[in-house]
Amino acid sequence: MTVPFIDLKPQYETIRAQCEPKLHEIAASQYFVLGPEVAAFEKEVGEYLGVKHGVGCSSGSDALLLALMALDLKPGDQVLCPSWTFFATAGAISRLGLEPVFVDIDPVTYNMCPQATEAALATCTRAKALLPVHIYGLPADVDAFLEIGKRHNLPVIEDCAQSIGAKDATGAMTGTRCTMGTWSFFPTKNLGCFGDGGLVSANDDRLGDYLRMARVHGSKQRYVHEFVGVNARLDALQAAILRIKLPLLERWHAARIANADAYDAIFRSAGGRCTSCAWDESSLQLRFPWRPAAPARAIVNQYVLRVPAAIRDEARDFMKERGVGTEIYYPIPLHLQQCWAHLGQGAGSLPETERAANETIALPIFPELGMERLRYVAQTLVQFVESKSRTFAAAR
Ligand SMILES: Cc1ncc(COP(=O)(O)O)c(C=O)c1O
Repeated sequence: MTVPFIDLKPQYETIRAQCEPKLHEIAASQYFVLGPEVAAFEKEVGEYLGVKHGVGCSSGSDALLLALMALDLKPGDQVLCPSWTFFATAGAISRLGLEPVFVDIDPVTYNMCPQATEAALATCTRAKALLPVHIYGLPADVDAFLEIGKRHNLPVIEDCAQSIGAKDATGAMTGTRCTMGTWSFFPTKNLGCFGDGGLVSANDDRLGDYLRMARVHGSKQRYVHEFVGVNARLDALQAAILRIKLPLLERWHAARIANADAYDAIFRSAGGRCTSCAWDESSLQLRFPWRPAAPARAIVNQYVLRVPAAIRDEARDFMKERGVGTEIYYPIPLHLQQCWAHLGQGAGSLPETERAANETIALPIFPELGMERLRYVAQTLVQFVESKSRTFAAAR
């Protein structure tokens, strides 16, 4: 059996009949950038999220850039963010001449750890914002970051690139209770367009206004520029596709959650435990991902589990030989990237992040995976981990 890590084609088949005429309609209108499709999408996604301003833009990376620009920080100001995230989170910070301060993760949730954030703040001299990420669609501790932000007078931007539809501990959508939220519609996200697309969310009118201008070179009125912005507009084609997909999003979330439930059940019955359980010799050496209880919700953009570091790469090879695609999110944490070596957060400085880089594997989780392929993936991994059980007892 062959199981790709992700396959977007079956989902397209379910919406092809709606997409094709829409693409033709937009081609015929020749209205390609911003305009009515984008405005309608912004309204609809704002309602879905429960946020006042949804400002469409060109990508999740540009959404981060726009949100940070809106804070009006000075070069050298520090922004605290996780190292365990996609490059763009910290890339946007550096791009604006700001300094990322990388914070370790909570090993259970993989999200930026509030206690580690407090500890990092104690040593920062120019901390001006917090930028937690809801990694893999697992909600970070929004209340803790709001509280830390309030106490230290720091705005909080939530990187929701992977978390559209995820809910925090109060049941509110991620990206709606802090200063701003930033979103990606890259095709592999739960809500993905046909290329690059993104959004910044905010409840504050002044921020909404700023963001709408910042994405068109600081301009509200054509050829009149109030400040230096960027070109970061959302295309009408992308907005039209997103409008077709948005009403189906809850169905796709439910399918991913059902897949995650099925993986959890297979791994549990094989003797595996959740990431909230310590490693011990009596359980299968596999830790499936923690998910929060309602009203919080994880939307499982990725299903990332742990196996002992000593066998992680071999496990991937074993899966590959048996036709199963897997991924590592992320093989090199950001604090260990060459471009941030000058910050001096070298190897050993973020132990939980570094441990995650060596222990984690992402399994196929896309909504159309189906139970037969899912069982094959899970059983293949269990077979490998069981076959190695004697090795780990010695290795750990
Ligand atoms: C956490 C995170 N932040 C930001 C981004 C950037 O989004 P985009 O690829 O749309 O620029 C991504 C994309 O993978 C992401 O996962």
